[in-house]
Amino acid sequence: MLKYFAVTAIALTSVASAHAQSSLVQQGHAVADRACNACHLKGTIEAPSFAALAKRGTVTEAGLGDALGHGHEMSPITLPPEERRALAAYINSLK
Ligand code: HEC
Repeated sequence: MLKYFAVTAIALTSVASAHAQSSLVQQGHAVADRACNACHLKGTIEAPSFAALAKRGTVTEAGLGDALGHGHEMSPITLPPEERRALAAYINSLK
């Protein structure tokens, strides 16, 4: 069920993502909406919300690559480094 929602969300929001390119944080927000927020916007029983991750203060581009590459629910989700960098900036802005 979650996976179905995630795939639908990815399909629906990729069109909108072209708008928010004016800063790294906005870019990261768009990537999150497209690929992550189906599970991480508010979090689920298993997935922590991105706001909770931001408070832990450990989100980095490399860390995201690691989390996505190994044992993630949707593994492997692959994002180019610039999208991971934008995502890290966005997640850390949620503190
Ligand atoms: C289908 C639901 C789903 C989607 C989509 C998803 N995640 Fe997750 N994510 C999870 C779940 C469940 C966990 C916790 C269990 C695990 O690590 O697999 C998790 C864990 C994580 C963690 C590790 C959290 C920790 O406790 O250290 C990070 C970082 C993360 N996700 C980032 C992302 C990013 C970035 C995206 C988008 C590119 C994304 N996730 C998309 C479900 C999802």
